[in-house]
Amino acid sequence: VNIPVPKNEPCFNFAVGSKEASLLRKACQKMRNAAPFEIPLIINGKEYRTGQLQDQLICSDHQSPIARFHKVTTPLIQKAIEGSLKAKEDWMNLPYSDRSAIFLKAADLMSTKYKYELLASTMLGQGKNVWQAEIDVIGEACDFLRFNTYFGQSIYSRQPQINPNHIWNHVEYRPLEGYVVAITPFNFSAIGINLPTAPAIMGNTTIWKPASSAVYSNYLMYKILQEAGLPDGVIQFIPGSGRTMGTQLLDHPDFAGCHFTGSTPVFNKIWLHSAKNMMNLYKNYPRIVGETGGKNFHIYHPTCDVDSGINGMIRAAFEYQGQKCSALSRAYIPRSIWPEFKKKLLDKVSQIKVGQSDDFSVFMTAVIDKSAYKSIKKYIDDAKEDPDCELIFGGKCDSSKGWFIEPTIFVSKDPLNKMMKEEIFGPVLTLHVYEDNEFDDILKIADKTSEYALTGSIYAQDRDIIVKASKQLRYTAGNFYINCKSTGSVVGQQPFGGARASGNNQKAGSVDNLHNWVSPRSTKESF
Ligand code: SER
Repeated sequence: VNIPVPKNEPCFNFAVGSKEASLLRKACQKMRNAAPFEIPLIINGKEYRTGQLQDQLICSDHQSPIARFHKVTTPLIQKAIEGSLKAKEDWMNLPYSDRSAIFLKAADLMSTKYKYELLASTMLGQGKNVWQAEIDVIGEACDFLRFNTYFGQSIYSRQPQINPNHIWNHVEYRPLEGYVVAITPFNFSAIGINLPTAPAIMGNTTIWKPASSAVYSNYLMYKILQEAGLPDGVIQFIPGSGRTMGTQLLDHPDFAGCHFTGSTPVFNKIWLHSAKNMMNLYKNYPRIVGETGGKNFHIYHPTCDVDSGINGMIRAAFEYQGQKCSALSRAYIPRSIWPEFKKKLLDKVSQIKVGQSDDFSVFMTAVIDKSAYKSIKKYIDDAKEDPDCELIFGGKCDSSKGWFIEPTIFVSKDPLNKMMKEEIFGPVLTLHVYEDNEFDDILKIADKTSEYALTGSIYAQDRDIIVKASKQLRYTAGNFYINCKSTGSVVGQQPFGGARASGNNQKAGSVDNLHNWVSPRSTKESF
């Protein structure tokens, strides 16, 4: 196999007044007019309609369901598992080039024929503005498929170098024994397609449980995989409640692994539940790979470039309403630059426009659902009452039409305040102003308060400071940025993932991740 190095899919094609923007506007309108779109389950290539329906709502206009999906039932989960085990026989024996061609073709279909539909479903279904939708469902999604097929081929060519006379040593990179479960999040359609397809590229069959608030875009991507030639049963598409299906998918001898993105508590539950099954049920120790929460940081040094630091701060904290796993949520600013920093920050943040996701002029829309709205609002309300915290911008919430939360900024006197430590997953940023001569302490505090370790940035022009911060924060972030914002990793450029409570750092879109989905067999033959 010789899959050439892919190029990142280009983005930002929807400038105001462009032909693309006008076509996308029409696609959004058409989708709204036709809503709600009905979504079946797909098991062994067949559609199932259980009649147990759930709505996917437009989060900025929550009276309007954009889609309505059938939820999986217990017998259908059983069917999905059985079908998955059966489909694996043929799938794992298909040459790697034939498996790859399906995913490479799907990427091309996503970036061409189905571009507008995918964008509209991500904008309306997951509350993304046009730019956020494009970097997700076109850019990152195509990149995951192309780069994973490219990286995967290198695994098979890793063979022992030493073959004494009359001996041939070789390694067969088998897929895992059993089936893999993919549990995917609402916040990136790209992660939606990455989690089931990465194991499938390596010859596994997977059962895909999409997030209920991302079913529409995920279903369209599934249909694209089918059009690209994905055989029946290789990936089963079963939306529904995690609570109902979670244990059933894990309680089976052939459960081989789980590829997960979501909250830390749910990931912990998967570990705990499967740990019990290791005693008497499973054939193998499952591979449980997950990317979870974050409390991502920016640390500013007195030598930083203030304007670029503020630009990075606003984009990292408020793009997609702060709902990226990599989103900025706490920042440390030196006293000497604070007056200038604050003035420029407030000036910029007051220009942010919030509105409907299919209004092409907005920077932010609403948060994903009612439960996210309530939990974020509670953090804001509590911080307003906290004498340690000063609200310097935003703070208003309005759920009458959509789940809207203003971009909100607090300053906390105490760097150990819960606003500086706990994940909020919304457009809420907390700052701490430190004395310039306490920079070394701030590095220590930023690390010590970090239960999570996903992303973080240092803004400084002084090289010695950059080196010092990089060393001190060695374990504080799995993706570390120098003079750039904490969001926006690009597949093939910055492998993504973190450790501590942020997951087991198996880097999405990398050869490290793909290694999880093979179980090598060493063979020694003597002649
Ligand atoms: N790649 C995204 C980012 O870095 C997260 O999945 O923002």
